[in-house]
Amino acid sequence: MNADVFLVGSGQTRFGEWWDKSLPALIEEAVSAAITDAGITALDIDAIVIGNMIGQQISGQGQLGAMTSALLPHRPPALRVEAACASGSVAVHTACALLESKRAETVLVVGAEKMTDAENTAIASALMGAGDSERDAPAGLTFPGIFGLIASRYMHDYGLTREELSLVSSRHHEHAKANPYAQFRSSVSPESVSSSAPVADPLRLLDCSPISDGAAAIILSRTRKSPLRLAASQLATDALSLAERPTITSFAATRDAFCRACEEAEIDRKEIAHLELHDCFSIAALINLEDMQFADPGQGIGIYRDGLQEMSVNLSGGLKGCGHPVGATGVKQIRDLAKQLKASKQRFGAAHNFGGAGATCCVHILEHACEP
Ligand code: COA
Repeated sequence: MNADVFLVGSGQTRFGEWWDKSLPALIEEAVSAAITDAGITALDIDAIVIGNMIGQQISGQGQLGAMTSALLPHRPPALRVEAACASGSVAVHTACALLESKRAETVLVVGAEKMTDAENTAIASALMGAGDSERDAPAGLTFPGIFGLIASRYMHDYGLTREELSLVSSRHHEHAKANPYAQFRSSVSPESVSSSAPVADPLRLLDCSPISDGAAAIILSRTRKSPLRLAASQLATDALSLAERPTITSFAATRDAFCRACEEAEIDRKEIAHLELHDCFSIAALINLEDMQFADPGQGIGIYRDGLQEMSVNLSGGLKGCGHPVGATGVKQIRDLAKQLKASKQRFGAAHNFGGAGATCCVHILEHACEP
């Protein structure tokens, strides 16, 4: 980082089905909670970055920068960024650039998505905008379909069984029970994952992150100090189309972003106490752990089966348990890490958020110091 960027406050709505709340209402709730948590006034914010993917298609609302800015009395400069399911973390990355370049002192970062108002087919089609419209979408693929292909290939290559894969969602749902902001807060046994409705073979309903509404907001500052500092913010990209990748059981953007983030933070991956990773589908959690070299290729399931890992993985419940309002997830992950580091008094946490089938990946490392 080219400047100290402190996390001074955060807020969010509970993720879930909010049929009585519009996209602007969700954003307002998260923003208001973050400002209160930071102990600042709205006037202290001098820029806004909002991450959102499908607001225009589903809610008929574009211009989310201006819309969010209008919530504050002084209407600070604001912009919206889009990077599919990584929109939230790319908004954080953009805010870091504004702070590091001294364009701003205190930035409000918002991630928001409203998904449950539309039919699932409309949502699947809007989400497929994150795929390659010339090579992948014409094959009839949806995102569950893409990750179904990835899971099939992975099981073929490494011998992962259906029963083993079910351990992933079961664990993340167990974690979500303790999170009051999670969409799903009850236990899900591995057996019920294996026997849930088929969605895209071999993936079943409970392998998939759900359709969700929600918003999260954080406030980053270089002039207001806090014990929580962003030690790294790294963005990487890969070929958009699966057809152009040498493998579909490993994501180069994750490998690049995570490796560069550790270098930027000057830490070894073993120093990370809490990891929030992008488990849009259960198989993605295993691949991500392997791409970040917490497990060898094909061995990610060991972290769920043996439970020997000292680092926590998706203690919040992840996308599976918390829900995945796509633009909100990357911002909410930073807020979760802050809560986890404060509670455990550990030093480093990492947030991994990707968009599409890993075509865009953003990794943030949050450092917690006992003394500001
Ligand atoms: N996890 C846990 N429970 C889920 C769930 C999920 N992913 N999705 C739905 N449920 C629950 C619902 O709450 C509902 O419970 P209820 O009957 O008690 O109310 C029940 O399962 C059926 O839900 P429904 O909405 O009818 O499911 P659906 O078949 O319409 O949609 C999916 C299920 C998996 C197709 C949909 O959630 C989906 O497309 N997920 C992937 C989203 C995606 O691609 N995101 C981008 C990632 S890159």
